[in-house]
Amino acid sequence: MTEPTPVNMDKLVSLCQRRGFVFPSSEIYGGLSGCWDFGPLGVEMYRNVKEAWWRRIVRDRDDAVGLDSSILMNPKVWEASGHVTSFSDPLVECKVCHLRWKADDLKENRCPSCGGELTEERMFNTMFKTFVGPVEDATSVVYLRPETAQGMFVDFENILSTTRKRLPFGIAQQGKAFRNEITTGNFIFRSREFEIMEFEYFVKPGTDDKWFEYWVEERLNWYLKLGIRKEHLRLSPHPKEKLSHYSKATTDIQFLFPHGWGELEGIANRQAFDLTQHAKASGKVLEYFDDETKEHYVPFVIEPSVGAGRCFLALMCDAYREEPDKDETRVVLGLHPVIAPIKVAILPLSKKENLTALARKVYADVRPHFMTQYDETQSIGRRYRRQDEIGTPFCVTVDFDSLNDNMVTIRERDKMSQIRVPIATLAKTLTAKLAGEDMLVLPEGGRVVVAK
Ligand code: GAP
Repeated sequence: MTEPTPVNMDKLVSLCQRRGFVFPSSEIYGGLSGCWDFGPLGVEMYRNVKEAWWRRIVRDRDDAVGLDSSILMNPKVWEASGHVTSFSDPLVECKVCHLRWKADDLKENRCPSCGGELTEERMFNTMFKTFVGPVEDATSVVYLRPETAQGMFVDFENILSTTRKRLPFGIAQQGKAFRNEITTGNFIFRSREFEIMEFEYFVKPGTDDKWFEYWVEERLNWYLKLGIRKEHLRLSPHPKEKLSHYSKATTDIQFLFPHGWGELEGIANRQAFDLTQHAKASGKVLEYFDDETKEHYVPFVIEPSVGAGRCFLALMCDAYREEPDKDETRVVLGLHPVIAPIKVAILPLSKKENLTALARKVYADVRPHFMTQYDETQSIGRRYRRQDEIGTPFCVTVDFDSLNDNMVTIRERDKMSQIRVPIATLAKTLTAKLAGEDMLVLPEGGRVVVAK
């Protein structure tokens, strides 16, 4: 197996477009920079990413609840949070070609496009503005949220009183965020519209350092559990002078993207900053009463935050591999079964009526259990390759022997090993295999197929 470290981005973009994972938004009109559409396979995978995160953060924990707050919020939220004054990037403009650049991204003090001289830096607020109601004036300005975090802070009191959670506990949210990035690029890595998955974990002040460490480790482990290679991940603590206005400590989990190491997720100790700010600005009490110590205090917050699209991209990059295969190259997306868009493909060996009838019956049996695809076009070799390229963990082949012995062959994506199993136990066998049980564990009556 070759080790593509890291994969070439052009190849990945081409696969994404060709196989329906990701398309440029409004492509027939030339697209819109920084906006992307997830196609039929992409949307399945994207939902799996978000579902895996939600399961781990919310459903599998007793100390977490979910929220889905609105995108448009009272503009006072963004004044109190500091976004109106501080959510800005340094912008420079080329005096010759007038292209605009984010100063932080430039290696030299010259225009990367034409080499022209650049203007002085000025701060550019990256929040998108729009208007509510029919009058477009300063009093009706609202912002498209650039993060979901603030929704969780302003709903803190509602959630505390309705769930009666005790500290430490967290609120999780996934949803669209919008940033008018000065420059976009590296495919879906930096977009203007993206989905973010954020968790605000409220803790007693003084225990925050311990919980910060806990969440850095927990989040790193999540990526490892999803199969991302250890050597493609690293931790990058922010130096004190680079911390955001609200943060006492921030550590990024970085991934080795094709364009180099880049932030995948940030874990920040936001202290009591947000709740204190919103309490001041709204005049409401946003505190916690500790039954044990009989104290009132403002909890500290530890926040792991990751872009769903960026996570999708990292999983894709890490999974992509090319293997020599006779005269050709086998392209495989070695995605974790939880993430793979299609879990099982049902493939009749030929298009003969009696075979396709049985294959369709097998398809109907398996389909309620997992995302399954039926494919009877082209040679079986080509169909295997097509499934490998989209990361399908298992192909089930229905052949002429199946008509007599009621067995089918399960072919596994990574090792290409094959076993023959009774149709009656197929769904059960696939369930076990998708849950990670060893390929060589056979159901009763099954056997390993020896390659000819
Ligand atoms: N609430 C904290 C927060 O928003 P951030 O570091 O600005 O922190 C969190 O963003 C995560 O969101 C990043 O680690 C990244 O995964 C993702 N992200 C940020 N800007 C993005 C963009 N323009 N396009 C795609 N993902 C983005």
